[in-house]
Amino acid sequence: GPADLSTLERIACELATEAGRLIVEERPRHVDVAATKSTGTDVVTVMDQRSEELLRTRLEELRPQDGLLGEEGGSKESSSGITWVVDPIDGTVNYLYDIPAYAVSVAACVGDVSVAGAWHTVAGAVINPVTGELFHARQGGGAFLRRGEELTLLNVSGQRDLALSLLGTGFGYAAQKRREQISVVAAIIGEVRDIRRIGSAALDLCSVAAGRLDVYYESGLNAWDQAAGQLIVTEAGGVVRGRHGAPAGKELVIAGPDPLVTDLAALIDA
Ligand code: IPD
Repeated sequence: GPADLSTLERIACELATEAGRLIVEERPRHVDVAATKSTGTDVVTVMDQRSEELLRTRLEELRPQDGLLGEEGGSKESSSGITWVVDPIDGTVNYLYDIPAYAVSVAACVGDVSVAGAWHTVAGAVINPVTGELFHARQGGGAFLRRGEELTLLNVSGQRDLALSLLGTGFGYAAQKRREQISVVAAIIGEVRDIRRIGSAALDLCSVAAGRLDVYYESGLNAWDQAAGQLIVTEAGGVVRGRHGAPAGKELVIAGPDPLVTDLAALIDA
């Protein structure tokens, strides 16, 4: 039957923490570029693959019936109804440059994770293994930030005015997509307090949940970049949606407090 959500949340936290420890400890020896994906800047490190391997192996031990979808190609059909959607290093470029804003994202999802809008996250965790901040949530249970022994309940920003909002975004790595995105940025930059491009979509979504960003949008994200973060935002009282009110997906994700998402969506949809 459907798994106990607090068990899934605990597993997400444990596995994100384990993989986070691996990527930080091994970074000095393994920053070599293993491969390039769509462009020269979209680097995949040996550690990306090793982190996913750790997650895959641990899930196989703990949850052998569950499915898997991972950024580094890991994929397995689910026979339990639960599929884990994992990003072994979100913010690969920050990892390469030793900028302390990268994450491991681990999400337990239900539905068909290969079809936009046909799945949702029921439990998830995102860790920044450099700062030790662990963001986590389960459906209906609230969103939390754990730092060592300290546990904080998360709430999205109370800001209602887009003009006073700090907005996060990202640009993916494909050159053509970047060119297209400039017109969106041009339409928005004069309408907000300022823009941040942190370099990890998972941490952007957690920043929205914690009120460190008022609102966030990005186009071109894959499921693993946003699966855990989407739930963390909604459990922190925010809303997450896509273009013209469609569910969030690869085309677009907008996340934040309802009034800001509505106003930002009107600008982006226009
Ligand atoms: C990337 C980061 C980045 C976002 C890109 C993603 P990766 O994930 O989340 O912030 O702008 O679209 O691809 O490739 O480092 O896991």
